Amino acid sequence: MSKLKVGIIGVGGIAGSHIPGWRASEDAELVAGADLSEKVLKGWGEKHEITRLYSDPADLIKDPDIDIIDICTPNNYHAPLSIAALKAGKHVICEKPLAPKPADIRKMIAARDKSGKKLMTAQHFRFQGKSKAMKAEIDSGALGDIYHARSWMLRRGAAPVRPGFIQKAHSSGGPCIDIGVHILDLTLWFMGNPKPAAVSGVARAELAHQKGAWSIWGGVIPKSFDVEDFAAGFVRFENGATLIIEVSWLLHHDTQGEDMQMWLYGTKGGSHWPNCEILSQNNKTQQMYNRQLKRTGDQLEAHAQECVEFARAIVEDAPSPVPAEQSLDVMSILDGLYRSQDAGKEVKIG
Ligand SMILES: NC(=O)c1ccc[n+]([C@@H]2O[C@H](COP(=O)([O-])OP(=O)(O)OC[C@H]3O[C@@H](n4cnc5c(N)ncnc54)[C@H](O)[C@@H]3O)[C@@H](O)[C@H]2O)c1
Repeated sequence: MSKLKVGIIGVGGIAGSHIPGWRASEDAELVAGADLSEKVLKGWGEKHEITRLYSDPADLIKDPDIDIIDICTPNNYHAPLSIAALKAGKHVICEKPLAPKPADIRKMIAARDKSGKKLMTAQHFRFQGKSKAMKAEIDSGALGDIYHARSWMLRRGAAPVRPGFIQKAHSSGGPCIDIGVHILDLTLWFMGNPKPAAVSGVARAELAHQKGAWSIWGGVIPKSFDVEDFAAGFVRFENGATLIIEVSWLLHHDTQGEDMQMWLYGTKGGSHWPNCEILSQNNKTQQMYNRQLKRTGDQLEAHAQECVEFARAIVEDAPSPVPAEQSLDVMSILDGLYRSQDAGKEVKIG
């Protein structure tokens, strides 16, 4: 059987991490790319020996030979490109965030349902062996009912300085939308995707606008920086569970690179990710236990693994490995957090 044909739109940084997945897939192969920058497109084509190159993404979307569109552009172009691709009868895998605004994700879901094609968000952390091991343990009931979570993704002096990340016109937001989606998606997935009900939060830029503010990823932070550099929130879910989340690109926090962690607390046990540790106790013997989950090495990097699993889901007509409805809940929480910052109080979600 011939392989599904893949075309990437936006052949910048993250697109490079998807390529090993399309190369490893038994179900799909990368045959084309599109980018608004002719220079980037030409260099990418030469590097990866891809000759079908389009400087207008609409031409790639129109290409009848293409089955899967892989969207790797800055955030604000995810929804229009995904909707156009779905309308053209293509399956779509789209980088995170699926779209920065919940209303746009709803439109993407409607386009998916009309087309009958698959839509997946590239939440690669779910595809790491350690995340899969944790998910399987939780689904087996090891934690009981999870009633509280604490999650954070914090960087010290590490703001991306490209316009695609730091200008609302391209990204719609700062670390909430860039890295908050990662830790939030993973936390909700482990919790069994409870429906969010309300959030109280703050989103501020305390460090980015200081004179001489700089990032280890590109020197002085441009004046065009108009997003938050820090956010924190308290989320209530319809099932009574709660979550505390903190995200930042710039924080006087003692970390080399990135501090990304999560604690989940349930009626039978607790757990820590990424340490993959399960904590429990025996009330009869009054003993406490810490158990380390077995983790096997990952054959493919998670960005690649997600592409392999998306293509497989298409071939097997299995559900999307990361359903858009779950990304809608993630973005509804972050959108609510921004609304709560503006309102100065807790806001309802949904
Ligand atoms: N999953 C992850 O860990 C991860 C990591 C980095 C980036 N991302 C996501 O990937 C996306 C892109 O980030 P990046 O770091 O690769 O950015 P990038 O700036 O390196 O690359 C984006 C590319 O898209 C092109 N582009 C911009 N608008 C376009 C349009 N309308 N049509 C076609 N091409 C267009 C640009 O010319 C550029 O080459 C963002 O949504 C980001 O959130 C995800």
